[in-house]
Amino acid sequence: MANKLQHRRILLGVTGGIAAYKAAEILRQCQAMGAEVRVVMTSAATEFITPLTFQALSGLPVHTQLLDAEEEAGMGHINLARWADLILVAPASADFIARLAAGMANDLLTTLLLATEKTVMLAPAMNRAMYDDPNTQNNLSQLESQGVVILGPGEGVQACGEVGLGRMLEPEELANAVADHFQTGELAGVNVLLNAGPTREDIDPVRYISNHSSGKMGFSLAQACVEAGACVTLVAGPVHLATPAGVKRIDVVSASEMSEAVMSAVGQADIFIASAAVVDYTPVEIASNKIKKNASQMQLTLVKTTDILSNVAEQNNRLFCVCFAAETDNLEEYAKDKLERKSLDMIAANWVGRDNGGFNSDHNALSVYWKKGGQEFGNMPKPELARELVTLIAKKYHEKNTAQTTR
Ligand code: PMT
Repeated sequence: MANKLQHRRILLGVTGGIAAYKAAEILRQCQAMGAEVRVVMTSAATEFITPLTFQALSGLPVHTQLLDAEEEAGMGHINLARWADLILVAPASADFIARLAAGMANDLLTTLLLATEKTVMLAPAMNRAMYDDPNTQNNLSQLESQGVVILGPGEGVQACGEVGLGRMLEPEELANAVADHFQTGELAGVNVLLNAGPTREDIDPVRYISNHSSGKMGFSLAQACVEAGACVTLVAGPVHLATPAGVKRIDVVSASEMSEAVMSAVGQADIFIASAAVVDYTPVEIASNKIKKNASQMQLTLVKTTDILSNVAEQNNRLFCVCFAAETDNLEEYAKDKLERKSLDMIAANWVGRDNGGFNSDHNALSVYWKKGGQEFGNMPKPELARELVTLIAKKYHEKNTAQTTR
């Protein structure tokens, strides 16, 4: 369960009801699974629990006002709607459900729910008679038909002393429902091997050749593959990133070490994603002592490193091979040439050496090509981009497998 929500941004909406105090535990459970959680409260909710509780637990300001001058300057509700990967309203009162079903936008929470295109989950909590009322039932049915996910309610003794359906589900059940939503299963049972980060080629004991790769793209892809249900092995160059939960990580430094690690793991793989920025040339010799800087010029003789990707693609033709290509010019032409030349299934090309995206940035954009098509992915955070790319890889991988088995 740990880290199932790593890199996920959950917006927790809290409305007025006795179960509002339990929302603090939902927040903690989501955080324990790695999520970043922001809280929006209706004014009725603040009668039951203070914003300060959520602020202290989340470490972030709690949003309560639609017409907050500071927030509105930055289109607060639109920004929050864009920020969230998922919105969970817990508890969702009968009044809030009715306002949402009516399409009202008379407070911050209803407004941002109108503005969001992300998944919305509601955890109804109310007296059993209010829950049974045809108005509430109609509202819930309507919201469900619009794609809102209704979680619960549960049955049992209520705060008012009555017994029946209407209790909010327990915080753990709600946090698990949120986590389960992100487990797509698109790559269930599939073995994915990735490489990520730079390599480092020693010149002498104190100097090396490398590049600006941070590993963020590759680590985001590893995380997205785990979420899709894959069994993931990640060969990582020298980077300081935490290993996504569930990923088997093999640390390497040089291109030759990376080649060795990839070649020994590739036999078990169904998909290989080459996102590493492998250094193309390495010194012929590594000086055993620090090279003295006496001469005004010096020459370093370099030799090509092993082309890991080409070796993998040549030796494993049943493998689904995805290559990353970093280009400073002629992106489409060079990427399509690599796709053809290296007999790959897919190539994901990104610009490097520009302001936005590529090396060491938290964002990236990709132009993806395969033999008979392509798809553009606009600039977005790397974890989000990774999930979209993994969905595409899963689709193309299954298409290839189906075509091979029906031959
Ligand atoms: O790590 P980040 O900071 O998040 O940055 C991400 C990234 C920019 C490094 C990533 O998105 C990316 O573009 N990775 C590929 C970088 C690269 O080396 O591109 P290339 O066009 O030079 O190489 C093409 C392919 O050949 C790559 O899959 C590379 O892994 C592979 N290759 C290259 C040389 C070599 N000796 N062996 C290889 O396998």
